[in-house]
Amino acid sequence: MIIMKNKFLFIAVFAISVLHLKAQEITIPQIGSRAPSFSAISTQGLIVFPEDFGSKWKILFSHPKDFTPVCSSELLELAYEQEFFYDSDVELVVMSVDLISQHYSWKYALEEVRYKDREPVQINFPIISDNDHKISKLYGMIHTEEDFSQNIRGVFIIDPDNYIRSIQYYPNEVGRNIEEIKRMLMALKETHANKNLVTPANWHKGDDVIVPVLSREEKEKLDTPESELYKLTWFMVFRRQ
Ligand code: BEZ
Repeated sequence: MIIMKNKFLFIAVFAISVLHLKAQEITIPQIGSRAPSFSAISTQGLIVFPEDFGSKWKILFSHPKDFTPVCSSELLELAYEQEFFYDSDVELVVMSVDLISQHYSWKYALEEVRYKDREPVQINFPIISDNDHKISKLYGMIHTEEDFSQNIRGVFIIDPDNYIRSIQYYPNEVGRNIEEIKRMLMALKETHANKNLVTPANWHKGDDVIVPVLSREEKEKLDTPESELYKLTWFMVFRRQ
């Protein structure tokens, strides 16, 4: 009886330690940290990320599972917008823990769908297989509270110097908003190009921007007809676009 009890105790302690270790291995990068590097097989061959994409902007999307309806709608909406991303010099990379053979079958099946009465669309971005969960752990794409065997819906926007500039997590139940991802990308590009510039709520390309720090000259000219800057209150100065 005592031997049985000890055996049970040993197994329980071992299982808890393994789970703890598994949880510990999962890291969530932070905004401003370097994008963790990895190599993986994709529907377009071997990818070394982010290095293969040089000094472009990159967006890494994770998906819970292939052949699931919400993920499928996201992949299709992304494919309908892929030209916008390529025209903006952005590379799209999609990944999940499913096998590469499943990724191919899913991609071909999606390319036959007429989504929301539109013509079928080719998926031109790679879909990576992270079957050993290596990438998922590096990018915090596994939520142990949810499920060890699936990815969460994550979106990582990475700048030309390979720093993470935005991280978005979505629940399993809600599909992503591709328009919001485009808006975020455009705002990040705008602020990346000009360090003394930030964008207000609901900003879209072409809208006025906020200038957080003013030079003495700018302060003196503020609100004069020749100034591009205008003040809403002493702590909110905008630049006309
Ligand atoms: C979906 O993408 O449809 C989905 C993914 C995980 C759980 C439930 C639905």
